[in-house]
Amino acid sequence: MVTLSKDMEVGVLEIDSQHMELVNRLNALMSMGHDVASKEETQKTMDLLEEYIIKHFADEEELQKKNKYPEYESHKKLHELYISEFQKLKKEFADNGHSLKFTMDLNNSLINWIVKHIKSADVELGKFLKNKS
Ligand SMILES: [Fe+2]
Repeated sequence: MVTLSKDMEVGVLEIDSQHMELVNRLNALMSMGHDVASKEETQKTMDLLEEYIIKHFADEEELQKKNKYPEYESHKKLHELYISEFQKLKKEFADNGHSLKFTMDLNNSLINWIVKHIKSADVELGKFLKNKS
């Protein structure tokens, strides 16, 4: 279970609530565990998650552009890396279905990645926006 800790707050209401939603969806996905019967359900949740990630990243990038954030390009690169990471997992799931390996891969490379990204890159953006205002 992933929780949003104080050090993961960006300080922009819209971004923080989207992060909360993202974490809720990840937790919903993880709580399915590796019940083989829930493959369809897992697929649906992953599709929703993907859609949401793309929307969230676009909103975050829009905010950065609007505020002339100097790290815009490198931050965008991180988002792109993450999307390709997610696509890889999606393909693995489509090819092999539910397995302990899939659950572990999802846990390690996806959830850890999100937590790290929010804690570093997004919190950094939050600091920039705070200093600006
Ligand atoms: Fe970000």
